[in-house]
Amino acid sequence: MTGKALIARPLPEAVLARLDGVCAFDVRQETGPMSPAEMVAALEGYDAILPTLGDLFSEEVFAAAKTIRTRLLANFGVGFNHIDVAAAAARGIAVSNTPGVLTDATADLALTLILMTARRAGEGERILRAGGWEGWHPTQLLGMHVSGKTLGVVGFGRIGQAIAQRCHHGFGMDVVYFNRSAKRVSFPTHQAETLGDLVAVADIMVVAVPGGAETHHMIGAETFAAMKPGAIFVNIARGDVVDEAALIDALARGEVAGAGLDVYEFEPEVPQALRALENAVLLPHLGSATMETRVAMGRLAVENIRAFFDGDPLVTPV
Ligand code: DGY
Repeated sequence: MTGKALIARPLPEAVLARLDGVCAFDVRQETGPMSPAEMVAALEGYDAILPTLGDLFSEEVFAAAKTIRTRLLANFGVGFNHIDVAAAAARGIAVSNTPGVLTDATADLALTLILMTARRAGEGERILRAGGWEGWHPTQLLGMHVSGKTLGVVGFGRIGQAIAQRCHHGFGMDVVYFNRSAKRVSFPTHQAETLGDLVAVADIMVVAVPGGAETHHMIGAETFAAMKPGAIFVNIARGDVVDEAALIDALARGEVAGAGLDVYEFEPEVPQALRALENAVLLPHLGSATMETRVAMGRLAVENIRAFFDGDPLVTPV
């Protein structure tokens, strides 16, 4: 089958080169999310679309398209909570994503946030850059020692496990996780029965659950109030898993000692009240942002498009 695909963002050349010979394609040049009108036009005009984070393929968008030509949404990214998969399926549109290839990069970024938050690296850098460093002294910017602490991971899929592996082998941490099913891994772990059981013991709590209706605001004021004194909170999953207003309150009161965030409830909006907090380390959704990883994500999305046009089963269907 020959056909045409829309690539919804500029991608590395090494990815686009893989599309040659697979199908005709257009690359949308904007870096921001597609508008509803653009998504409707894409559904009417292309056989396959490669969308990504922020492109809200909702029931309303599918319903607004007069005749849908699209049969595949090959999402660039593992998280697909921006796509209403049931609404797509009801119209005969398959959805694929890019699991596996971004696990290490995202786990590495979780470790970056753990270390930066525990060791107050953002605060220190801001002082230095502002010309305010008065020199070393014994009680300056004392943070939390991470080696030997207890890690609590909420969501123990590929990424949660990769974070735990790094924390266990690299920092000698005990690992507790909260997950629907028990997981066997090659190092010692303990499965918490409830989120409360995890929060009660974690010095470092990391959120690694998928986004979506099931996990929306899974973590809020009650969880923050139950955290151990001095414990830190890290989110590399999806912003709306956390009640962001409750987190801001908890950080301002010192109930949560520090937070390392890569994702935000209404990203790219980050509230001024959060940006003003010295005990928050804030990154702009960098989880998978390495050249190697973005190329691998793109190539996997292209493999799904190739399979679709060849009439083969999708490589990584949702
Ligand atoms: C994903 O793949 O879902 C990430 O959040 C994008 O880096």
